[in-house]
Amino acid sequence: MASNPFTLIFGQPPLEMIERSAQAEKIISDFCQERPSNAINLVTGIRGCGKTVFITQIAERLREKKEWIIVNLNPQRDLLPALAAKLHSDHTLVQWFQEAGINLQAFGIGIEIKGAPPIHDIEEALIRMLRSIQKHNKRLLVTIDEATNSRDMRIFASAYQIFLREQLPVFLLMTGLYHQIDRLRNAEGMTFLERAPRTVLSPLNFSAIVEKFLNTLKVNQETATRLAKATKGYSFAFQVIGYFCWEYPNQLDIALEKSRDYLYEFAYEKIWSELSAKDREVLAAAAQSESGEISHIREILDYSSNQFNPYRDRLIKAGVLNAPQPGIVKFALPWFDLFTLERTLRDQ
Ligand SMILES: Nc1ncnc2c1ncn2[C@@H]1O[C@H](COP(=O)(O)OP(=O)(O)O)[C@@H](O)[C@H]1O
Ligand SMILES: [Mg+2]
Repeated sequence: MASNPFTLIFGQPPLEMIERSAQAEKIISDFCQERPSNAINLVTGIRGCGKTVFITQIAERLREKKEWIIVNLNPQRDLLPALAAKLHSDHTLVQWFQEAGINLQAFGIGIEIKGAPPIHDIEEALIRMLRSIQKHNKRLLVTIDEATNSRDMRIFASAYQIFLREQLPVFLLMTGLYHQIDRLRNAEGMTFLERAPRTVLSPLNFSAIVEKFLNTLKVNQETATRLAKATKGYSFAFQVIGYFCWEYPNQLDIALEKSRDYLYEFAYEKIWSELSAKDREVLAAAAQSESGEISHIREILDYSSNQFNPYRDRLIKAGVLNAPQPGIVKFALPWFDLFTLERTLRDQ
């Protein structure tokens, strides 16, 4: 038997992939412009919506172009020295840096260069490395997956701001959960991030999902459509449902039940743990309301619209709810309403 083409692992570029072409093209064409007006993009969306896969794909696409150098940084580390070290692991770049007399021995990187005194300031070192990259008509893309408002991130962002001011060819593609990116943007000195373009990842294309299920699972049109609806365009659910339908052919109900349990355990528990007590209360009321009418949800909560709106907005931005029409909210993730009800009972 062929092996299951779907994956249950986060961050793994899946075999069965639904392209987000429009959103990816927008970023790539922004970054590739002769005189780019946007050197930065913040990609947000709920856990499991596909942020890691999305930026990995963009990085791979740019890596194929000869003028791009790609560096992926870990946000949990000291970012500036890590960037210098990574640039120094490329043979060609090391040669350029040596020719430019950039001596990084003070950071324990590289070799001594005759007649070039060691640089002691990491920002200065990076500026000179970037100038050298610029001189060779290259561009640097830095990706940072799952950025948070940490001290390291803020240090990196303020240095990055200086690189931009110096008109150096350095681009930043960053992902994060909505509230994390928001905190970083609101931190002191991060105003330039406020103006930075954002990409809120859209749900996967419905007909593309139907097509994938038809082709991989050998189910009929009706079943493929039913399964596609069940995913709600949520990337992780697309993989999970595909996976279990592959494992349990002709046992749709079992496959869907297993999918639901899997989503609960490996995505929703984590998402729930990041919601405030008030957010959970609002979700519980929304889960009790069949229609999703805001007036009804407010009645359950006994909230005025002024009280309710900030929660609504935040839960929509976080990707838990969506607003299919004015006055209505729905759950954006499959079975999250049931999960909310069960979880609320358990918390009581
Ligand atoms: N465009 C896509 N098409 C199909 N599956 C995807 C797509 N993007 C992500 N996935 C799958 O969804 C899951 C979550 O993706 P990931 O990039 O880890 O999400 P995030 O980083 O937002 O938490 C993974 O199993 C991944 O393989
Ligand atoms: Mg991720």
